[in-house]
Amino acid sequence: MLVLRHIRQLITCAGAAHRGRSLSGVAAIVAGAVAAAGVRIVFAGRDADLPPAIAAAADAQVIDAARYSVVPGFVDAHTHAMFAGDRRDELRRRLAGATYPEIAAAGGGIVATVAATRAASDRDLVEATRRRLDEMLACGTTTAEIKSGYGLDVESELKMLRAIRTLDASHPIDIVATFLGAHEIPLEYRTRRHDYVRLVIDEMLPRVADERLAEWCDVFCETNVFTPDESHRILEAGLRRGLNARIHADELGPSGGSLVAAAVGARSADHLIFVPEDGIRAMGDANVIATLLPSAAFYLKLGRFAPARALIDAGVPVALATDVNPGGGFSPSMPFAMTLACFAMGMTFEESLAAATINGARSLDRADTIGSLEAGKLMDAVLIAGDPIDLIRVGAASIGGVIKRGRRMSIAGPEDPAYP
Ligand code: NIG
Ligand code: FE
Repeated sequence: MLVLRHIRQLITCAGAAHRGRSLSGVAAIVAGAVAAAGVRIVFAGRDADLPPAIAAAADAQVIDAARYSVVPGFVDAHTHAMFAGDRRDELRRRLAGATYPEIAAAGGGIVATVAATRAASDRDLVEATRRRLDEMLACGTTTAEIKSGYGLDVESELKMLRAIRTLDASHPIDIVATFLGAHEIPLEYRTRRHDYVRLVIDEMLPRVADERLAEWCDVFCETNVFTPDESHRILEAGLRRGLNARIHADELGPSGGSLVAAAVGARSADHLIFVPEDGIRAMGDANVIATLLPSAAFYLKLGRFAPARALIDAGVPVALATDVNPGGGFSPSMPFAMTLACFAMGMTFEESLAAATINGARSLDRADTIGSLEAGKLMDAVLIAGDPIDLIRVGAASIGGVIKRGRRMSIAGPEDPAYP
């Protein structure tokens, strides 16, 4: 039994759907307590209401958390954390004025990572990704989605998904796997793109489904990548094979992805920097979650961010994620994504916290087990030195501890060269 007592401020994020302005569960409880038996929470609420049997349990490990606030562990619902190679150079070129399409045309971008990832051994992929997951855990992430999509041939896509499975079994972070064979048209298929779409649908998807390597199917729906029609067909094929749908939509321009998401009943449409008015309405009607990735818009220097307020006002639940990837996903930190949500997308701190926790869990269909601190859910929590809003003090060491499935995690210190 693990018992956190006298918590400075406890925010449980428990409650109903976090949409519109009716956010619930985000009011801070002063002098709170959370208790877990094994991996599961048995109590979360006011310390004064902690049942005496729990407080006095013989095996109770009681932590006086008077200096700490406690929030649910972060659920990072969109990452490309598995990759080989290094594209830091693209950041420098962007800072010198190059755009994403210019960098891609010069041989950079996704295809550069595909070449490195195809050449990498299973072991190298696992170990490089493990270090990234360590960083994410240190920033408070306790569940993360990881996509394939840097293999783009049958065996390399399966290699990535098997490596993701290996990490799920051996890293404290719980991992949710997404098949993203439709991340880009690989160079060898550029003159016959229809053959590549056929490869994804007829060869990759059946293998992924047979080996149960992924829960989700995703597509990069974008001008010059996959069209709305191709995206629709790929996501429908995934659904027929038992893979739920999510989509990269309206990231670099109004690509039509939000409308595809609504039409196929995707759980989530992601990015949405250029989502048009009718896309927002369609998502609201079809109950699609908007998973927003402001750190990517920031590092890609897109000069604008997704219209979070318009989405929230239209009744679309908003989740936040990091988009960790070798190009524009340069920050492993959910608190940094929350900071941008607050200062670049007009969200309140409470909305950003719900978006990083319970709505991330909803985006991954995990809201029954994670995303809030309530009896019956997993004991995944973040301790903050100070008040919860100290999470957005970028650069301060505000994460005072991370608890994953009831176990206190050791967090890499500054002397630990964790960076890949
Ligand atoms: O979410 N948009 C497509 N995929 C990533 C970028 C991947 C990369 O640049 O390697 C994204 O932004
Ligand atoms: Fe992405």
